[in-house]
Amino acid sequence: MSTPTTTRQRSYPKDFLSVLDFSHDQLDEVLGLAAVMKHERNLLNHAPTTHALRGRHVALLFEKPSLRTRSTFEVAIHELGGQVLSPTGDAVFGGRETIADVARNLERWVSAVVIRTFAQSRLETFSQAAPRLSVVNALSDQEHPCQAMADVLTLIERWGDVQGRTVAFVGDGNNVANSLAQACLGLGINVHIASPDGYALDAADALRASGHARFGAHLRLFVDPVEAVREANAIYTDVWASMGQESEKAQRDAIFRPYQVNDALMAAAQPGALFMHCLPAHRGDEVTDSVIDSAVSVVFDQAENRLHAQKAILHAIVRA
Ligand code: CP
Repeated sequence: MSTPTTTRQRSYPKDFLSVLDFSHDQLDEVLGLAAVMKHERNLLNHAPTTHALRGRHVALLFEKPSLRTRSTFEVAIHELGGQVLSPTGDAVFGGRETIADVARNLERWVSAVVIRTFAQSRLETFSQAAPRLSVVNALSDQEHPCQAMADVLTLIERWGDVQGRTVAFVGDGNNVANSLAQACLGLGINVHIASPDGYALDAADALRASGHARFGAHLRLFVDPVEAVREANAIYTDVWASMGQESEKAQRDAIFRPYQVNDALMAAAQPGALFMHCLPAHRGDEVTDSVIDSAVSVVFDQAENRLHAQKAILHAIVRA
């Protein structure tokens, strides 16, 4: 990959609220840039992108807990020469003023905001109220696009040519599954999602992701996890109760137990199939220790690649 890291592309959207905000060319270019930035990281202050955000501030607005996303965005902004602003969650989301007014204030001070919240519509409200501000989705109830970019960067590293491969997501058809499907289909990777009845990927989201498919890639929804993984070159899972669903945990534990990724399910996939998880993992629930700690597990590569993917996303969309 030879994407130059010294030129900022002006045709990018101002926001990254969804993988679908990037055209196929932009998806390829940002992933190429992320790979170059990863390679150049050992140059430290001599890396070509060290000053990409010089003189700019980026605000991190988190309404939910985070280890990976907050940490990697803070490191990314510092490594691009920018400054981090972290207003407290209650000042932003506590109802002191409207979200639109929060956006109109921040637009006067910072170049971009990275937001983790519940409703996707809140991100859209923020973006529309502040036309000069770049808005990055750090997880909503509907999408987790920065995670998906790191996930497909990991697959490109492992597989090289990803077209025609198959990723099986086993579990809740949630925000992680949705963004993963968008990113994989956009690169020509088939996506199988196995979920219990009532927990499948939303039909409208499935349709939108399928509309982004390239190179004949397909999205198929299953109930039977063994059927879903039969052609899989990677199996992906996530917690059974996401943030905000804690009260449903006991009920979900019972419903999702047959969807645990264990040695038997890994054995049903293609030889050499990878194991993926966005983390945090609930060991013994959605995945066994024997799988997440195995040689085919790439979960910490995914976590590392959050940094490189997000640096590339910020580099692409944040304007002067
Ligand atoms: N995968 C992920 O988004 O991790 P955090 O919730 O720790 O940010």
